[in-house]
Amino acid sequence: MLHKPAISPDTASVSQALPHDSATRHVAGAAFYIDDVLEPAGTLHVVPVGATIAAGEILAMDLDAVRMAPGVVAVLTAADVPGKNDVSPVPFDVDPCLAEERIEFHSQVVFCIVGRTRDEARRAGLLARITYEEAAPIVSVDEALDHGGEVMPDYAFGQGDPEAALDKAEHRLQGSIRVGGQEHFYLEGQVALASPGEAGDMHVLSSTQHPSEVQHVVARVLGVPDAAVECAVRRMGGGFGGKESQASQWAALAALAARVTGKPCKLRLDRDDDMAMTGKRHDFLVNYDVGFDDEGVIGGYDITYAARCGYSADLSLGICDRTMFHADNAYFLGDCRIATRRMKTNTVSNTAFRGFGGPQGMMGIERVIDAVAWRLGRDPLDVRKANFYAPGRDVTPFGQTVEDNVMLDLVEALEKSSEYRVRRRQVAAFNETSAILKKGIALTPVKFGISFTLIHLNQAGALVHVYSDGSVHLNHGGTEMGQGLYQKVAQVTADVFGIGVDRVKIMATSTAKVPNTSPTAASSGTDLNGMAARIAARAIRDRMAAFAAGEFGVAAESVEFRGGHVMAGDKKIDFNELARQCVLARISLSSTGYYRTPKIHWDRPAGRGRPFLYFAYGASCSEVTIDALTGEMKVDRVDILHDVGRSINPAIDIGQIEGGFVQGMGWLTTEELVFDSKGRLTTHAPSTYKIPTAGDIPADFRVALYDNQNREDVVGRSKAVGEPPLMLPISVFSAIADAIHSLAPGAPVLLNAPATPEEILKAIKAIMRPS
Ligand code: MTE
Ligand code: MOS
Repeated sequence: MLHKPAISPDTASVSQALPHDSATRHVAGAAFYIDDVLEPAGTLHVVPVGATIAAGEILAMDLDAVRMAPGVVAVLTAADVPGKNDVSPVPFDVDPCLAEERIEFHSQVVFCIVGRTRDEARRAGLLARITYEEAAPIVSVDEALDHGGEVMPDYAFGQGDPEAALDKAEHRLQGSIRVGGQEHFYLEGQVALASPGEAGDMHVLSSTQHPSEVQHVVARVLGVPDAAVECAVRRMGGGFGGKESQASQWAALAALAARVTGKPCKLRLDRDDDMAMTGKRHDFLVNYDVGFDDEGVIGGYDITYAARCGYSADLSLGICDRTMFHADNAYFLGDCRIATRRMKTNTVSNTAFRGFGGPQGMMGIERVIDAVAWRLGRDPLDVRKANFYAPGRDVTPFGQTVEDNVMLDLVEALEKSSEYRVRRRQVAAFNETSAILKKGIALTPVKFGISFTLIHLNQAGALVHVYSDGSVHLNHGGTEMGQGLYQKVAQVTADVFGIGVDRVKIMATSTAKVPNTSPTAASSGTDLNGMAARIAARAIRDRMAAFAAGEFGVAAESVEFRGGHVMAGDKKIDFNELARQCVLARISLSSTGYYRTPKIHWDRPAGRGRPFLYFAYGASCSEVTIDALTGEMKVDRVDILHDVGRSINPAIDIGQIEGGFVQGMGWLTTEELVFDSKGRLTTHAPSTYKIPTAGDIPADFRVALYDNQNREDVVGRSKAVGEPPLMLPISVFSAIADAIHSLAPGAPVLLNAPATPEEILKAIKAIMRPS
């Protein structure tokens, strides 16, 4: 790896490669996750029990033996819910916290046991006698398309006349690709600890990306005002989107148990239950029709994405919309129609996962580009470059103009640094002489829109205090899930006061400190909360500067905060001393900060607007070797060039790029979710579900940051980095397809994702013996 974080403590902290704020505590086991927090005396443990059918009705539920079992304190069913039995994040749908009569997916929570210990509660669960009337479940997207329904209406946007453009194109291709789902596999599973207070108050610690949503859902389920519930979280051991809407149910069940028993209650999902009971990345069936010229320039385009949404809407509206917003990836599509169908299935409701539908959108167009290149006998990279947005060809299918056209420059820089052309020839030469092992190479781009497409979510708040000793207390609405948000915002705050980041105390996120927050999602954590914290800190600094100016007898504008000091002309005072004097002089050293993203708007019915403040860019070049007899695959080398604007913290940003890449590679190569015909997830443990491990990281892995700065006024001129790198490993998938293509040049490769050995063998068989 090329990078080496440099730490120079005596300069401003923004742009420094400081370690993650908890790095040492993480590795020393000294970072507190919710299950590490000391349990209050008398804490009880909640275990949810799921349905054993995927569709049907509960006819009878006999829980007497469960209630009598040793260690059982209470048993909770839907009848115990004092408020509304609904944990859905959207107002137009319902997700029961505990099933009523209807069962809509296998492992849907039917009842909960509250026990003295988890072990006793789990054992008691086995004594339940439930009688169901079983119906035939609709499990796959295909079944839903054949004889099922949808969780919400179809939606399409586009421009021009795609029908006519397709008809008159020199070449035309139709095809399809399947893109698999993905389990989040956060290392810390879903967990919540609820403690009852007086007068119906509830304090909840929840491993959530969205404390305000947990607060709101707990209040709704308990039937109390939002103000009676406080939700806090110091950190998550990974969220990846899986704790954006789907942390609520577990917090609500813990709170319900706390309400019923009057004791603190903890719910920590067992890993197998977590995998069966919580939603995943949506899998898609994608059908396309593309028209293009001899150079491979696309002129007409019609694509339909059908998603497995599961039994309810959850966040599928925004997710499938984001699929559509990324159906173009980095390419101008001309006359086009982009459509989605949001299929209802008897499976757990699928949810946010890093990229939020965008990755699946890009998989469609990247397959199309490869297919066009195969048909024309051209290098796929040339077809990619011929289709990039460029001045005059810069309006997206949703009407937003691409203003910073850096894609071609970035890709050409990577093409050069990765020696793509030389290696393309070496790959071809290798394949000439090697019958069984085949190599492939691909260079693919990423253009990812930054902002929540639900416009009202693009806001953030912060609360900053300076204490009389000059130490700073930092609160904002963003949550820490390992991505380094807390450290980045602390760096921004420290810089406002000209002090070291060690003087900034990073506080747990709490709904009592900052209200009405958005989820930490859409990669917008730093953009939003960094700005809010900066605004709060600047308000305090301005008051301190005005006071210092009076004391020094200078203008407030000439007061500088730098290196732990406050200076004006030849006057200099310690920041800490100034803080002390401000308190004595009765100057408030506390402020909130509030930020909302400018410029964005979106008219969904019209399919037109500017949903994104800006785009983040990146590209990667991957070389792979496959074994044509066994389907095994190895990634030989990966080169990445990624645009984070002006980095606030290059060490954290590169960590996000590496981690996102490997996670995306897992999605596209080894992580396979298998539901059987009865709707049971058969891959509900690491023994059957293969996430990448250290050994899967490419042996030769070169990551570099593209020299750029955000043209928009984003904190420090940086760019969001959380999700975009997840899509970089589409080059791995494309390189595998390239290797298979070498077996029968000119023929289409029918490879679906994930490209497991089995899938690779199927694609090889199809290309060698076309039916
Ligand atoms: N990185 C780590 N280590 N753990 C995570 O759970 N989640 C990803 C990304 N990077 C995640 C992560 C997702 S899905 C998002 S949306 C962003 O981080 C959220 O954080 P940000 O907005 O601060 O980038
Ligand atoms: Mo990320 S999928 O937006 O939590």
